[in-house]
Amino acid sequence: MIKKVNMEIVSKKEIAKDTVEMVLRNEYITKKAKPGQFLHISIAGHTLRRPISIANIDRDNNEVTILFKIIGSGTEMLANYEVGELLDVLGPNGTGFPTELSQEETVLLIGGGIGVPPLYCFAKELHDKGVNILAILGFQSKEYMFYEEKFNELGTTYIVTNDGSYGEKGLVTDVIMKVEPFQRYYSCGPMPMLRAVKEAISDKPGYLSFEERMACGVGACFSCVIQTNTESGYKKICQDGPVFAANEVIL
Ligand code: FES
Repeated sequence: MIKKVNMEIVSKKEIAKDTVEMVLRNEYITKKAKPGQFLHISIAGHTLRRPISIANIDRDNNEVTILFKIIGSGTEMLANYEVGELLDVLGPNGTGFPTELSQEETVLLIGGGIGVPPLYCFAKELHDKGVNILAILGFQSKEYMFYEEKFNELGTTYIVTNDGSYGEKGLVTDVIMKVEPFQRYYSCGPMPMLRAVKEAISDKPGYLSFEERMACGVGACFSCVIQTNTESGYKKICQDGPVFAANEVIL
C-alpha cells in the first residue's frame, strides 16, 4: 500500500555528471518496496512530486537508494537537500518487475541513462536467486556513466556510449546481437530506446519500464496513460506500471 512518509536523507553523492545518488531511511518503505517501483517525492516550491526509481533496497538498515539526474529546477533543488533533512515521500508506487523466473534462465537487462538504477535493484534480486545476468548499459558519454563495477559483480556487462568515449560506440541496440543467448529481457530508459529495444528483440518475452513524466503518481489524473492492446486500451504508467510486458504496449 502506498503511504505518505518522511524519509531521512542518510547520504548523497554526485556519482557522475549531473547524477546524484541519495540514500534515504524509512522502515515502511524499505519493508514494502520491490525492484521496479518508484518513490514520488515532494520538493519545496514545486507543485508536482517527482517520480524517482529505487536503485537499491537495504532491508537490514531500513535504507533505500535513489538516483536522479539534474534536469530542471525540481531535481536541482532535490540535489541541494542536506543529509539529515526529511523528504516528504509517497511510496512505494507502481507494480515493479515480475520475478517468476527459473534459476536456469539467462536474462538480459538493458538500461539507458537514468533507466539503469531500477535495473540494478532488480539485478541484485535476480542474482540472489541464482539467475544468470547479462547487462547492456547505455550512456551519452563516459562522464555520465555509473554503476559499471556494480553490474560487473552480478554478470557480464557491456557499456555503450553514444559518442564512443567509453565502451562500445553507438546505441544499446547495436550490442544486442553480440551478447550470449538469453531467454528474456527487461529494459528501462527513454521511450525511443524502449521502442528500439522492443523492435530489436521480437522473438523473446520482455518487459519494459517507462520513465514518463507523472502528475499525481497514484492513478488519479490520467496524465501518464500508455496505449495497450488489452481490453481496457489505455493503462496508467504510475499505477498499472511502470513495468509492462513488451507485447502488451503499443509504442
Ligand atoms: Fe496521475 Fe498516473 S500520474 S494517473
